[in-house]
Amino acid sequence: MKICCVGAGYVGGPTMAMIAYKCPGIEVRVVDVDSDRIAAWNSETLPVFEPGLDDVVLKARGRNLFFSTDVDGAIRDSEIIFVSVNTPTKTYGMGANRAADLRFVEACARRIAEVAQDPKIVVEKSTLPVRTAESISRILHGTNSRNGFQILSNPEFLAEGTAIKNLEDPDRVLIGGESSDAEGKEAVEKLVSIYAQWIPRDRILTTNTWSSELSKLTANAFLAQRISSINSISAVCEATGADVDEVAYAIGKDSRIGPKFLQASVGFGGSCFKKDILNLVYLCDYFGLPEVAQYWEQVVRMNDWQKRRFSERIVKVLFNTVADKKLAILGFSFKKDTNDTRESPAIDICRALLEEKAGLSIYDPRVTKEQIKAGLSPVKGVSESTAQDDHRIQVASDPYQAADGAHALVVLTEWDEFVRLDYDRIYQSMKRPAFAFDGRNILNQSELRQIGFESYAIGR
Ligand code: NAD
Ligand code: UGA
Repeated sequence: MKICCVGAGYVGGPTMAMIAYKCPGIEVRVVDVDSDRIAAWNSETLPVFEPGLDDVVLKARGRNLFFSTDVDGAIRDSEIIFVSVNTPTKTYGMGANRAADLRFVEACARRIAEVAQDPKIVVEKSTLPVRTAESISRILHGTNSRNGFQILSNPEFLAEGTAIKNLEDPDRVLIGGESSDAEGKEAVEKLVSIYAQWIPRDRILTTNTWSSELSKLTANAFLAQRISSINSISAVCEATGADVDEVAYAIGKDSRIGPKFLQASVGFGGSCFKKDILNLVYLCDYFGLPEVAQYWEQVVRMNDWQKRRFSERIVKVLFNTVADKKLAILGFSFKKDTNDTRESPAIDICRALLEEKAGLSIYDPRVTKEQIKAGLSPVKGVSESTAQDDHRIQVASDPYQAADGAHALVVLTEWDEFVRLDYDRIYQSMKRPAFAFDGRNILNQSELRQIGFESYAIGR
């Protein structure tokens, strides 16, 4: 069997690498219009940092896994075509700042329709609004009436940093399709049979297409909602003397609530939570359900407030001014074990501190200087002052250099190495009083205070 994936990003690359690795009998092609990205997938330094990914790619690449820019060739030769292109929030026109921008998905559908010479199964891997499969179907069948197309929804649930584990041993795989007709059933079965090569059948769920599309948005909304919920409680903890980690532990012991996704933080980031909730909010408004839209929108608002609250706390504690002070920023990726900075809370917090004329010395073990600079480059109308503040942004090569001469330490990503730093040494190199702000609650507060830090965490 030959399959391909259009879009060689954080999802397309790892997902297809895992299929190729687990299914040596299937030829897997991953194609993208971005030739630099494809070159990186073919090099020793993959474009995505993900624990365990190099190993999987090395085992399959050149055997039955191929990365190329030959989009048309891959479409032509494949029986199953996964579409894993980006679906960012629209920044223009109708639905701006809410709806998903579907132009890349539509471009793929049109390309498939033009190139296909025989029947194809088209699989939505990208996260999409409910009923997108219908639009794709109309484009495919409207442009190319010679061949039959089956459209399946197969959303991806991997989390960055643990993608390989999630792909190898997923909680479930979800496949949505039309099982009312024989061709639809056959298409679903074909996709099921790929995953069944390494995943137990009872974890491969099949539903109707719309349930599958909506389940993806709903899963992300529920996960993000838990974070906003615990973060809202962190503010109550700070006001009352309760400790949010203790509260999270106590409620997480209730088997109906469970312990996961209750880590209070500086706010959630990543390319999807905000985008997917806004997508859901837009859909609810579109279908005349404003109460539901407002309910979910509050999850994003709470997250924005949490980020703002954190940067404001820093300014207030540092005697109401951070102008010309050096702040050491530890962590820039949106979570540990990834080099991804999309929607990282670090971006908003650094921007807010730059607005206050702070000098930042930023260290992240995996994010490059170019990525950091790009993340903080001015956004029109939002942060014009950062343009002339470029000299205020230093990128440090290690955490000790970042902290040298700083007024405060600010932890924004929960990298394991930050827990193990020599905080005595760091303290000695800092200005007095030396402040520490732990936006991830990973540091031992009493140890920091013993060393001499004036130390703050979330929800304590
Ligand atoms: P990404 O931006 O990393 O990758 C998308 C790739 O698609 C890019 O390399 C781009 O060049 C390519 N592309 C766009 N249009 C194309 C076209 N017409 N032809 C060929 N290539 C094209 O995005 P991602 O993070 O991999 O996300 C992809 C989708 O998966 C999104 O819908 C996202 O919501 C969803 N998703 C992402 C994650 C995640 O952890 N990142 C997890 C689950 C689901
Ligand atoms: C999330 C979901 O977990 C995946 O299931 C989904 O496939 C993916 O979005 C997607 O659709 O893109 P991801 O964003 O990669 O995965 O990472 P998460 O582990 O969910 O973390 C998201 C953000 O929430 C991070 O900034 C993280 O630091 C933060 N977080 C997470 C908390 O602040 N507290 C927690 O308890 C958990």
